[in-house]
This record gives sequence, C-alpha cells and structure tokens, in this order.
Amino acid sequence: MSPFLLTRTLPEDATDAALRADVLQGLTRTPKTLPPKWFYDARGSALFDEITTLPEYYPTRAEREILQTRAAEIAAVTDARTLIELGSGSSEKTRHLIDALPSLHTYVPVDVSESALTGAANTLLASRPALDVHALIADFTRGLALPGTPGPRLVAFLGGTIGNLLPAERAAFLTSVRALLSPGDALLLGTDLVKDESVLVSAYDDGAGVTAAFNKNVLTVINRELGADFDPDAFSHVAVWDREHEWIEMRLRSRATQTVKIPALDLAVDFERHEEMRTEVSAKFREDGVRAELSAADLKLTHWWTDERGRFALSLSVAG
Ligand code: AVJ
Repeated sequence: MSPFLLTRTLPEDATDAALRADVLQGLTRTPKTLPPKWFYDARGSALFDEITTLPEYYPTRAEREILQTRAAEIAAVTDARTLIELGSGSSEKTRHLIDALPSLHTYVPVDVSESALTGAANTLLASRPALDVHALIADFTRGLALPGTPGPRLVAFLGGTIGNLLPAERAAFLTSVRALLSPGDALLLGTDLVKDESVLVSAYDDGAGVTAAFNKNVLTVINRELGADFDPDAFSHVAVWDREHEWIEMRLRSRATQTVKIPALDLAVDFERHEEMRTEVSAKFREDGVRAELSAADLKLTHWWTDERGRFALSLSVAG
C-alpha cells in the first residue's frame, strides 16, 4: 500500500489563533459576522453530509450527476496524474473523477477538517491501494503550499464552495489557484447557479431543520474552543436571498436581548432582540460571470457543463 501522508501546513495552534481572530473581528463589528469555515468540526461535517441527502438541497445531487456524466470527458481532456481537491470534505463525489482517471498517481485532499480528511483517505485507499494520498490540513483561503507532485495536475474546487467567498476574496483565491497551475494543468470549478428564489431559500432552510442545526453548530464550536456561553436555542436560523448580490445569506437571529461571554477573548458581546449575525454567504452564478471572474485571474474557461435541469455547473479552465 502507498503511503498515506497527513500534513498540517500550519502549526496546531494556528487554527486556534485564526478562530480567535475571526471571532474577535466578526463579533465586534456591526453587523456581526462569523466566517462559514468554522461550521466544520466533526459534528458540523456530519451535519453537512446529512444536508446533502435532504430533498431540498439539490446542489450535491446536481453536481454528482454532472460528474457521473462527464467524468470520462474530464479525464480525457485533463489526463491528470495529480488531483488536488480543495475543501474535499468526505470526497464522496470525487470518487467518480478518481475512478475515471486511470493515470492518476497522487490525490491531494485539502480541508480544514482533520476528521473528514482521515475518513475520506481511508475509504479511498480501501479501493485504490496504489494511489498516493497526501492529505493537507489547511485553510486554502490563506494561500496554498502544495507538495511537489507529478503533472498534469487537476485542481478541483467542487460543491459550490467558492460561493462562500465574497467577490474580492474570490478574486484573490482564483489568483492564488492560477499561480499553482503550470501549462497543461487545469482547474475544475463547481458553481451553483441562479434560479428561482423559493428553490434557493428551501435549500438553505429545510423542513427537517438540519440546516438550522448546522448553522447553530458554529456557536457550539465557539463554546468549546473559546469557552463561550452561547445558548444555541437563544438564536433562530434565517436564510434569505439577496437578489442584488445574487447570494443566499444564512444568519443567526438573537431571540432576545442577551450578553454572551467569550472568556478566551476576554470579551462580552451584546445582542439586541432580533439582531441578525451573518454566518454564511452562498453566492449563485451565471456562465458569463464565472467566465469573467476566471478571466480576471488569468484563467480561460474551456468547458462548461451543467446538470440536465441547469441547476449547477462545472467549469474547466486553464492558465491564460
Ligand atoms: C458546502 C459551502 C457548498 O454553500 O451550499 C449548505 C454549505 N450551507 N447548507 C453551500 C451549506 C448551508 C454549502 N457549501
């Protein structure tokens, strides 16, 4: 069996320092915000996996459909020997791609969740024991340092997670991805598409309340990591469509006037009754917009594939 390497690109306490900085910054500004990456501890990752099975949450199924239909084409066009997957999570959908890439030598899953990485690597190695798996615990929004691996390299950023970044962050992110690509390498990008508001809102406010639990999980993470005393029941889950920016916003609305203590930051945070704190932006895209954003980062869109119902897109792009 090939080696399974797990590398932390940052020291253990860097995650902690980043969480502190994000929470301090986000909860002392108006309106309050928290970055979505802190949803994904073991429980949050499990809740997200559950979301992907909900009837209302179509993106995962739509993207899986595209991957199933187009995996052979993606493999033929890219001929990748290394697959680098940013925000890999459970890597479940990526299997279609991995299975379609016979010359694949190395798989580099990159995620902030160590539990997701080890779980995914073990499942994968059970059926592809000859594959080199070099998992990276990393926050790819803060710059990427990748191991030297054989080309051509395919960088995949699936699930529509690019929509969690604000436009300026997306520009910086795509520029940093572009810097990783040599001639012959490619970027495979998953983007959820603009559609009917009711379909979008339901996807982020499901009837079973799983997304609500996922949203509130960020409070549990802050309680555990920073000793805070958030009462998740004192907040309600809100999902709204921002038609100007064309993104879904998830928020947590304080049910009452309350003060939350965060000992690790030596901070007390006041919430007004009905005050809303933004916890996630999930942008939805159009083909022209994706092409333009790629182009601004010196990336050229070469392929655009959608599911049958036109809900989600995978695009392939190359340097310049
Ligand atoms: C994993 C970032 C793609 O934005 O749709 C699911 C996360 N948030 N339900 C998304 C999420 C609420 C998801 N991404």
